[in-house]
Amino acid sequence: MRESIGTAIATPNIAMVKYWGRVKNEYNMPLNSSLGITLDFSLKTKTSVVFSHKLDRDRVIIDGKDRIAGQNNEKIANLIFVMNKLKKESGIDRGTHGLVVSQNSFPSDAGLSASSSGGAAFVLAANDALNLALSRKQLSILARHISGSACRSVYGGIVGWKRTPADGTEESYGEEVFAWDWWPELRDIVVILEEKKKKVPSSMGHDITPKTSSLYKCRPEYAEQSFEAALEAIRRRDFDRLGMVIMRESNSMHATMLDSMPPIFYLNDRSLEIIQASEELNEGSGHIKSAYSFDAGPNPHLFTTQRYRNEVLRMLDGIDGVRMIIEVGVGSGPQMSEEHLIDDNFRPVLQHSKP
Ligand code: DP6
Repeated sequence: MRESIGTAIATPNIAMVKYWGRVKNEYNMPLNSSLGITLDFSLKTKTSVVFSHKLDRDRVIIDGKDRIAGQNNEKIANLIFVMNKLKKESGIDRGTHGLVVSQNSFPSDAGLSASSSGGAAFVLAANDALNLALSRKQLSILARHISGSACRSVYGGIVGWKRTPADGTEESYGEEVFAWDWWPELRDIVVILEEKKKKVPSSMGHDITPKTSSLYKCRPEYAEQSFEAALEAIRRRDFDRLGMVIMRESNSMHATMLDSMPPIFYLNDRSLEIIQASEELNEGSGHIKSAYSFDAGPNPHLFTTQRYRNEVLRMLDGIDGVRMIIEVGVGSGPQMSEEHLIDDNFRPVLQHSKP
């Protein structure tokens, strides 16, 4: 087989209705439905993949560092698992190894869901390198095996991911529910307060919270209601309704995290200050202008619309400790690229500027 390099660029998918909690040992089969926005190319992950018998081992290089699968790095172990699945599917011989080179245009440890864009970019690039022509649904299932939220990042626009049905093991995948240009005024103002790696990886949290939190018992049902309410608000382009769902969802998920044993908390004092400032901005106007949402980290995503973005940015002027602000819109989904991060001698291409 002639080795060909596949390269894809994908962007994070940030949840408005949050996935937290999975069916054990099932490669991220979710206990509740979630709904997220695939971001535009302001934040992106570029990944190149090649398979060759000239490589002596599988290798995964992210942002210039070799990543080793292990207990503390479930996502890399999952990626290798998916890589082996794809090798098998393509029928290449067992002595063939894979090289993955990936680069993020944003801090990958800041809780900005680099694993969603990374998982999606990997499956698309590998699919291309092996010439498999898998469907989006198949790619979404594979991406989910790496990181749950990655199953949403293989699509553009606003993407839903339904909970695992109680009766079965049927595969679980994302689906685009609104095209990227349905609501062009929507914005995610990403505020970087901290760039440290999270203390509790989300993969651990997805197991600990359902097992130990008593508040979690009502969480999956609440998320289902939020899912329906968010869909309706987006259908009507009603930001007052959507913003309320977004904030309550984030608060609900973080409440179950804190109620876990050991307790899991990702927010810091600055995060709480931004919640407070958003509440004041919204309350004073009778509208939702800044809808805060936090993933497994302290950095807020402030959802807003074009109409209110200046007010949100002004609000942030009054907060100390803001390191970076990135304003992002809804994205059209991953793209393939011919500019590879691997050269013809299977060496990573060093990029001086981010992709
Ligand atoms: C809180 O296991 O998919 O972001 O992006 O590495 O945290 P990470 O991956 P994943 O968990 C996502 C949890 C979440 C909510 C969400 O994206 O739905």
